[in-house]
Amino acid sequence: PVYDHYFFDESAYNTHDGGYVPLVVAKAPATPLKIPALCQPDQETATDAWYTLEAQKGESQLLPGAKTQTWGYNAPLLGQTLAFPVGKHIHVTLKNALDELTTFHWHGLTVSGPYVDGGCHAPVYPGESKHIDFTLDQPAATTWLHAHPCPSTAEQVWHGLAAMVIVHDQHEASLPLPHTYGVDDIPLILQDRRFHADNQWDYHADYDPDGVQGPTAMINGTINPVFAVTTQKLRLRLLDGANRREWRLHFSDDLAFTQIAGDSSLLPKPVRMTRLMLTCAERAEIVVDFKNYHAGDTVTLFSDDVPLVQFQIHDYTPDTTVLPDQLLAIQAPVVKPDTPVRKIVMSGMDETVAIDGKKFNMQRIDATQAVGLAQYWDVTNTNDMANGMVHPFHVHGTEFLVISRNGQAPYPNEHGYKDTVGVNPGETVRLLVRFDLPGVYMYHCHIIEHEDGGMMAQIQTYEPGKPLPTYHLMDMTTL
Ligand code: C2O
Ligand code: CU
Ligand code: CU
Repeated sequence: PVYDHYFFDESAYNTHDGGYVPLVVAKAPATPLKIPALCQPDQETATDAWYTLEAQKGESQLLPGAKTQTWGYNAPLLGQTLAFPVGKHIHVTLKNALDELTTFHWHGLTVSGPYVDGGCHAPVYPGESKHIDFTLDQPAATTWLHAHPCPSTAEQVWHGLAAMVIVHDQHEASLPLPHTYGVDDIPLILQDRRFHADNQWDYHADYDPDGVQGPTAMINGTINPVFAVTTQKLRLRLLDGANRREWRLHFSDDLAFTQIAGDSSLLPKPVRMTRLMLTCAERAEIVVDFKNYHAGDTVTLFSDDVPLVQFQIHDYTPDTTVLPDQLLAIQAPVVKPDTPVRKIVMSGMDETVAIDGKKFNMQRIDATQAVGLAQYWDVTNTNDMANGMVHPFHVHGTEFLVISRNGQAPYPNEHGYKDTVGVNPGETVRLLVRFDLPGVYMYHCHIIEHEDGGMMAQIQTYEPGKPLPTYHLMDMTTL
């Protein structure tokens, strides 16, 4: 089948939010879509690779006239794209050239918390550097890096501290999928901003405790982007990198496309659709086939009725490869019958947001789970439809499976591994969660202002029978 509707509950869309900011086409010329450069290792051997990442300030020509003050990783805005093969020992030097502390959070990488993972317990102070290293053992996926200092994650991401991180493995590389970065394998980081006087951003002026939004879509740090299509098929790695905005994506002519991957892995099977909604921090990889278009045609990607990217079709060599029917074999971990179901409640709106009735406390461990033990997590959103919202629930340091929504089958495009799941008002989503590494991991709503506002908690994972390590947990007063 070709799904022709969004899977989420329409009555919970952010359009119903009192603070909703509709997108408006910016008064700016069409501009070639920026493709972030691939970050090159400083040094590489068969087994190891060394990278340097610097959080830095810069300026970017986004609109005609004054440049915008922006932040990025090895770039003035957003960052270079990182591409890590599983199994390789990755070493990263994290440098902070900002005037305030930041952290480097690997959203979607299975690396140990709370230090390597770069959540709020891993500050890098201005002018300082830190070294981390890890070896990935997870499926190929589109993940990302973003700042995560509590409670200014949202503001730092708004300034631009977000970059794509692609995980490669041999299985994915062996499939007949578009694989050439920047040519037929394209990152699309979807964000929105409001430009104030002199084309500047002003996070505080735009502050909304239910999430900051702006009327201008910004894709890979480009306003009104156009992309020259030179292949019949394009693989788009979509990332909702917005603080709060959901994207309801569709193409001109209701062009059908194929979703091949979600947050943390390929889907078991491709899913054909004409509509795709992404909530904050979610990723989707889609393959678009332009076989019915010719040089000179334009295909537009929209969110609601606002164009996001224009794809200008050029001559291409016909591509007769067929997408495989099976993309990934998922081995669901087995839950021992005596393992209790963990219940997690996301409640509130605005300043009242909480998890299990509590605001985040950096020094408090809210839950524990044994490493290697699969457990069901029932995540409930107690908002109601009348004025509630979809809360995107995210867990660090794991890839989970979505088992059910209010007891019903999950959406057709969420049968792969995920790390972020939209929970509708009044809904309980059952997840199957297993951690492979001991540590402390945050879980939270990924409307970033909700996270900064305290809709966040943390879990300690431990190896049964081994002494519990103690972790140095930051608190607001030691920052
Ligand atoms: Cu995108 Cu706590 O992370
Ligand atoms: Cu994360
Ligand atoms: Cu929320």
